[in-house]
Amino acid sequence: MTLETRRVGPEAAAEVLAVVKAAFADRPVLDPPADALAETEDSIAAMLALSGGLLVLDEGRPVGALVLDPVDDDVYLRRVSVDPGAQGHGIAHRLVRAALLETARAGARRVRLLARQELPRTIGFWRDLGFIETGRHAPYVEMARPAPVVVDVPGADDMRDLGRRIAGRLAGGDVLVLSGELGAGKTTFTQGLGEGLGVRGGITSPTFVISRVHPSLGDGPALVHVDAYRLGGQAELDDLDLDTDLDEAVTVVEWGTGIAEGLSEARLEVRITRATGQADDGEADRAVDPEADPRVVELDGIGARWLDTDLRPID
Ligand SMILES: Nc1ncnc2c1ncn2[C@@H]1O[C@H](COP(=O)(O)OP(=O)(O)O)[C@@H](O)[C@H]1O
Ligand SMILES: [Mg+2]
Repeated sequence: MTLETRRVGPEAAAEVLAVVKAAFADRPVLDPPADALAETEDSIAAMLALSGGLLVLDEGRPVGALVLDPVDDDVYLRRVSVDPGAQGHGIAHRLVRAALLETARAGARRVRLLARQELPRTIGFWRDLGFIETGRHAPYVEMARPAPVVVDVPGADDMRDLGRRIAGRLAGGDVLVLSGELGAGKTTFTQGLGEGLGVRGGITSPTFVISRVHPSLGDGPALVHVDAYRLGGQAELDDLDLDTDLDEAVTVVEWGTGIAEGLSEARLEVRITRATGQADDGEADRAVDPEADPRVVELDGIGARWLDTDLRPID
């Protein structure tokens, strides 16, 4: 399979409709029937005209589709569909991941959807992707998750600024899971966080110790800084016996993906990558700041704790 995800408008109504029909025809018959079965090319084109949708193609053949429907500060995912013949290749995950990034780029707060309450496996799929049940209006379960926030971070000072800004949104008990390769800026981000929280400084990459507690200089939460790089797994993180402080402190785990999830039901995932695909606009910019080594940071709140916390930059 060679998959490609494409942002589409009303011109792709026929292709989107074909995937929607195939997917919904294959689902259990519901009462009342799924609205999707009544869609026509015109009705899909009308939905796509508002803010478009996403199409996944396998060597040019449409195999996955969804429609993006903005409502106030949120975006609803509608008609999420995968061709039954193409299931089991991660197309649904790919679609949703692309939809979350589209939503992030559009600056929306939350991603919402309606799932049929008779379909627990579908609801489980969404739950695994960080969606939380926010209401029940028979025959629907309404689910939502925060949209990720994507921030461009040109230099190390900007990374510290970002940490400082996020600190203002945090409270004792919060867990942050930082990911990104060696030298990505996880510790730099944590330094800003420490400044913003007003904790005792000296935040470094803990080379010999695995975790360090930075007490508050005021009456705010302490910062527990964990570097899980050399930790074998969940068991070892438990061995650190951090639980005593966790309800009161802000806990930051570098390299925590796959390890720190057990610490708390909710977590803020901070994913740092090197910026790529920048326009090559000559030597001028590089001459101004030879140290500039831009990053992209994705802030992604998992769990009810983050649903109403606005992590978007304030400016
Ligand atoms: N845009 C940027 N964001 C973060 N760090 C940057 C950036 N540009 C350059 N740097 C440098 O990259 C290094 C990041 O190191 P560090 O924060 O220890 O990474 P990690 O903890 O992810 O291994 C620092 O030396 C920092 O000055
Ligand atoms: Mg580090």
